[in-house]
Amino acid sequence: MKIDILTLFPEAFSPLKTSILARAEESGLLEINIINIRDFSQDKHKKCDDYPFGGGAGMLMTVQPLFDAIKSVYDEKAKIIFPSPIGKTYNVQKAQQLSQFQHLIFVCGHYEGVDDRLFQLFDIEQISIGDYVLTGGEIPSMVIIDSLARFVDGVITKESLDSESFSNGCLEYPQYTRPQEFMGLKVPDVLVSGNHQEVDKWRREQSLLRTKEIRKDLYDKLNNTQDN
Ligand code: ADE
Repeated sequence: MKIDILTLFPEAFSPLKTSILARAEESGLLEINIINIRDFSQDKHKKCDDYPFGGGAGMLMTVQPLFDAIKSVYDEKAKIIFPSPIGKTYNVQKAQQLSQFQHLIFVCGHYEGVDDRLFQLFDIEQISIGDYVLTGGEIPSMVIIDSLARFVDGVITKESLDSESFSNGCLEYPQYTRPQEFMGLKVPDVLVSGNHQEVDKWRREQSLLRTKEIRKDLYDKLNNTQDN
């Protein structure tokens, strides 16, 4: 999968170049390109922002550098995403859906927003990562990219995806590693019993208990689905 990120702050994206995503890039599963929108500005000082018509707080990103930056990477199969608090809220289903595209283009807004004509010029999906406002689209782009990349074939094992939170509508069960006892706290006996059936049963129960306690909304949804 190819991911192009258009931003005024390329230096913000070093987290995408470490750990699992870095390995996925090295092995050719992902290609992440970071493109500086400022390089496309036709202004003699490379300016990319201006005051909003009609007045109001702060500056807006101008449409020309954004338009040319998108055009430089666009192809017909590409899906363009603009992280924004006005988008529909992101979730695991959306992550899975986006992971099926061959080419994604993330456009990062900054300051008070962008000239709205951008959304008339291209088919762009706005996505919110939650009901709060961040200073720009860089962090939400990284959140979306990190989470969708995990669903790209080969990036992580299928087993990890199957057992993690939300994969079956539940939160993940508690996990433990060595030492078997720490500060008087012991790992539950069943996990060291060697009885795989019992381990699976315990994990399912713990998963349900946690979901009921912490995310009643998800728990109720599970029960409704089973009733219907
Ligand atoms: N940009 C600013 N706030 C945002 C949010 N909550 N989600 C996505 N993009 C944003």
